[in-house]
Amino acid sequence: MTDTENGQERLGVEIPRRGVDRQTLLDRLRALQAGDVRWREHKVFGLVYKHSDAHTEFLKEAHGLYFSENGLNPMAFKSLQQLEREVVRMCAALFHGGDGMAGCMTSGGTESLLLAVLAHRNHARRTRPWIRRPEIVVPESVHTAFIKAGECFGVRIVKTPCGQDYAADVREMERRITARTILLVGSAPCYPYGVLDPIAELGDLAARRGLPLHVDACLGGFFLPWLGDLGRETPPFDFRVPGVTSLSADIHKYGYAAKGASLLLYRSPAVFADQVFADVDWCGGAYGGATLAGTRPGGPIAAAWAALHALGREGYVENARTILEAAGRLIEGVRAVPGLCVLGNPVIGVVAVGATDPAVRMYAVADLLEARGWHINRLQKPESLQVILNAGHAAVIDPLLADLREAVGHVRAHPDAAFEGSAPMYGLIANMPLRRVVRKNLVAIFTKMHTVGEPGPEEAGEEEQDPVAVPPAVLWLMRTRARIARLFAARRGD
Ligand SMILES: Cc1ncc(COP(=O)(O)O)c(C=O)c1O
Repeated sequence: MTDTENGQERLGVEIPRRGVDRQTLLDRLRALQAGDVRWREHKVFGLVYKHSDAHTEFLKEAHGLYFSENGLNPMAFKSLQQLEREVVRMCAALFHGGDGMAGCMTSGGTESLLLAVLAHRNHARRTRPWIRRPEIVVPESVHTAFIKAGECFGVRIVKTPCGQDYAADVREMERRITARTILLVGSAPCYPYGVLDPIAELGDLAARRGLPLHVDACLGGFFLPWLGDLGRETPPFDFRVPGVTSLSADIHKYGYAAKGASLLLYRSPAVFADQVFADVDWCGGAYGGATLAGTRPGGPIAAAWAALHALGREGYVENARTILEAAGRLIEGVRAVPGLCVLGNPVIGVVAVGATDPAVRMYAVADLLEARGWHINRLQKPESLQVILNAGHAAVIDPLLADLREAVGHVRAHPDAAFEGSAPMYGLIANMPLRRVVRKNLVAIFTKMHTVGEPGPEEAGEEEQDPVAVPPAVLWLMRTRARIARLFAARRGD
């Protein structure tokens, strides 16, 4: 077997007999990146949180210093243990907690939420052992990591509808509390709409019913605290609310750390203790840890510690000012487009855009924006688009609004746009009553993506690249249904 084919290195097929020259590999990595979304041009929202070039370079250096260190054994790398403890202490103060609270860093929001569910499940097992099928009551806007946690740890996640303002409806949540409820959850703010749940009211409810309340501030934990400095007082969302018993906040989002850094804090160390794993019988020796991972990379911990110090309160406030100014322009621009609206009352740089006019099909609008290089998130319930802004987006709000106006105009003038491109597929996923079929398809797509020998996007033909394309017969039915609906609407004079 040779390591080259037609003079080209056979990369990614098998581990080469002889190591490949490092420059070739770096070139290949750069070439692969060229096909990704264009986040450096600020056309991507949410996946990348960037403060500035200088800050990114600084983060790489801090991360690099701890590239090899492992947080698995805190006795071996005492400095990492110290950095993590200092991050927890600084954040406990930021969120108006303090001495006596317990917390840790995790790899991200999902791990923080998984651990919060695990801890509360274990805690309930100890303190209310008669509960056989524990339940957690959440607004339906909570991050889906809670659903994942429910699947992982055998907890039923009871979703409640949000109010008209897209915030948690406290009354609805109360109605769903049963003798099996072990935890209530609110978001600060939620991912889909950037809307802050009424945490103080949820705290009252939790206290009244003797339940713990977790606040998922993964998205807003490093944004909401700066709003007061900008003259935008927001209701308390953290440990100032007596009923709040735990809180998660991602430092790798608006905290501008390197990826792989979130924070999880508990008012009571006794609940934290219930997320700690310990095995004293293993042949490999007594083993324990507070997080889901075994090996814990030191880089994200060091970079998070460095980010909090390097930006400081003033740095975060200034950054938030830029983002809020950009969000304000975006919101104003969206409201000026006939047929569009902003969903709820977004409090940070997260804005969801929906339609007031049924002729404006938002997934078709998304397709047109995507054709212009924008990578916009698509929401369902209702069909809408969402952006998560960072400071760099301030420079692209005007072109984004211009493209949005044009896309909306096109979709209005061409109702069939809703049945072209990926729009019908998203429409079908959002509206299909057979949710199990949709789920099965999604699982199949991910499984195929991870199956050795299946063609990836670089090898597949056009057809193959769209594994969830809507079958022509279904597409025809969708089109016909929409035409009939339009006809009736025209007759009614809508
Ligand atoms: C409110 C909220 N919670 C949790 C998460 C999950 O975070 P991660 O993607 O870091 O796992 C997100 C991600 O956007 C979020 O917005």
